[in-house]
Amino acid sequence: MHRRTGMGTNFGVGIDIEGVYRFRKLSMDSAFLHRVFTQKEQDYCRAHMSPAPHFAVRFAAKEAVVKALSSLKKTPPNYKDIEVINDENGIPFVRIHKQGFERLRITISLSHSKSQAVALAVITETPSVDS
Ligand SMILES: CC(C)(COP(=O)(O)OP(=O)(O)OC[C@H]1O[C@@H](n2cnc3c(N)ncnc32)[C@H](O)[C@@H]1OP(=O)(O)O)[C@@H](O)C(=O)NCCC(=O)NCCS
Repeated sequence: MHRRTGMGTNFGVGIDIEGVYRFRKLSMDSAFLHRVFTQKEQDYCRAHMSPAPHFAVRFAAKEAVVKALSSLKKTPPNYKDIEVINDENGIPFVRIHKQGFERLRITISLSHSKSQAVALAVITETPSVDS
């Protein structure tokens, strides 16, 4: 979904749900995990007794961000360049490790149970000074 606010700011929304079982089946050393998740994300997930819901919800977050970017007509970066980080209070946020995304403000919310993981992303794009 994509909207333009009265202030000229664009925003996009994306949502995704993932089955945790897909991530339980993966070996913790799988090439897929290394291709999709940064080392910091892998370390965060592996520090939990049950890493699978944490991997699943980060994958859902990346897909939600891709959907929100697509709704803003932006070509998404690789999944590994979309990094989910938890701040000192545990609140997750996204950092995109690629040029061209600096004017985007990305807000995510994550939730997971034993079987499902869900993520919502809202992206606002602040207009450039010359637009
Ligand atoms: C935030 C809270 C409601 C999460 O409830 P929950 O049902 O256990 O969590 P869910 O399974 O739905 O979601 C888990 C995800 O929520 C996110 N999360 C954790 N703490 C959060 C917070 N304070 N705010 C927003 N999101 C948070 C994380 O991304 C987490 O997943 P991750 O560990 O894989 O990154 C609960 O932990 C809580 O009440 N914490 C206290 C927060 C608080 O008082 N903080 C004070 C300092 S601001």
